[in-house]
Amino acid sequence: MNLLIHDLNEKEYKKISGDYEGYEVVSDNGSIKPCVGCFNCWNKDPGRCVVKDGYENMGYLIHHADEVVVIGKYTYGGFSGSIKNIFDRCLGYVLPHFELVNNETHHQKRYNEIKPFTFIFYGHQISEEEKECARRYVTAVCTNFRAQVKEVIFKEDNKKVKIPDRGEYKAEGKIVLLNASTRVKGNTAKLAVELQKRLNRETEIINLVKYLNDNDKLLKELEDVSTIVLCEPLYVDGLPSQLIRFMEKFEEDYKGKNKRIYALANMGLYESEQLVNLFEGIKQWCTKMGFEYGGGLGVGAGELVGGFMEAVPFGKWPTSKIARGMDKLAEAINYNYITEDIYREPAFPRSLYMAIANSGWKRMAKANGLKPKDLYRQL
Ligand SMILES: Cc1cc2nc3c(=O)[nH]c(=O)nc-3n(C[C@H](O)[C@H](O)[C@H](O)COP(=O)(O)O)c2cc1C
Repeated sequence: MNLLIHDLNEKEYKKISGDYEGYEVVSDNGSIKPCVGCFNCWNKDPGRCVVKDGYENMGYLIHHADEVVVIGKYTYGGFSGSIKNIFDRCLGYVLPHFELVNNETHHQKRYNEIKPFTFIFYGHQISEEEKECARRYVTAVCTNFRAQVKEVIFKEDNKKVKIPDRGEYKAEGKIVLLNASTRVKGNTAKLAVELQKRLNRETEIINLVKYLNDNDKLLKELEDVSTIVLCEPLYVDGLPSQLIRFMEKFEEDYKGKNKRIYALANMGLYESEQLVNLFEGIKQWCTKMGFEYGGGLGVGAGELVGGFMEAVPFGKWPTSKIARGMDKLAEAINYNYITEDIYREPAFPRSLYMAIANSGWKRMAKANGLKPKDLYRQL
């Protein structure tokens, strides 16, 4: 059996369904929920998501497929919101434990296999540069899933994409820090509060999760906001699906003036440069929207950083380098200039982080009444 994941509507799918006879087919049927970031697919019901909406068995489906084919609209350097939603729910396919792959931290395999993935991106006039981004993105996804990119195919039409001219950006009014994590008190939120303290204009932190069922309302609230800091965790090497969906909504419906968008991102693995695809996604969205991208701060080992922020004042060892990076981002926002992306990790050895994380999962399993070996469960 093969697995097809797609985001085509019924009519579009009908045209190609003959090519995928016998496939297990997964698409967004409207009931899919975003990942809640609980990690229970690792330490409570290993291998399976605890959100019961019909998409809880994605890890199992990938494992039991001979090959996986993904057909999706090219969106901001990677997947559309609905494809990304499905991928965000696949985390249980790998183990929580870290190991080094090509000198980068990644997760260990749950299943002893190298699953081949074919990616078919469709869209209007996908440029060579965009194709390169998509290839880089799916390579990162497959590296994280310990899988293999079999092929990347582009099917584009010639429809012209018009980039709106929204006039000059004016830094005025309040700055909104949009927390796109589903964990409203998580690591993203903690970092956003620290950035907020450094900003000298009126600010407001808005949690995207409050508006998941009413993106229209949030769009309205942000209509007159000139400066937005998109704050988010890295999910499966890109933006979390709930944020992509909101960005798609913006692209569809926003008619207003220019904005400047900054970014504050964090991730669980150690090397902050793994955030490059996420920043690229925000940049490509800004281009499509006719907005300015102002630069971002990317923080590695986010779970460790979040823990340190509880125990030691932010800016003291071991978060001093991150705080200095945040000062730079805050300065750019305060003095209204564009900065390069800044990548930072805590001043803490990677090997020790890996050892702490790997033993932490065992403790969490125990707290959930599991034995350490249960974490390795295969479905
Ligand atoms: C579904 C999902 C996918 C994730 N994918 C990645 C990833 O690809 N790379 C990474 O370094 N961390 C990944 N993480 C870890 C988060 O980025 C990290 O735990 C982050 O600190 C969470 O921030 P939050 O507390 O604000 O939600 C993932 C987490 C989840 C829940």
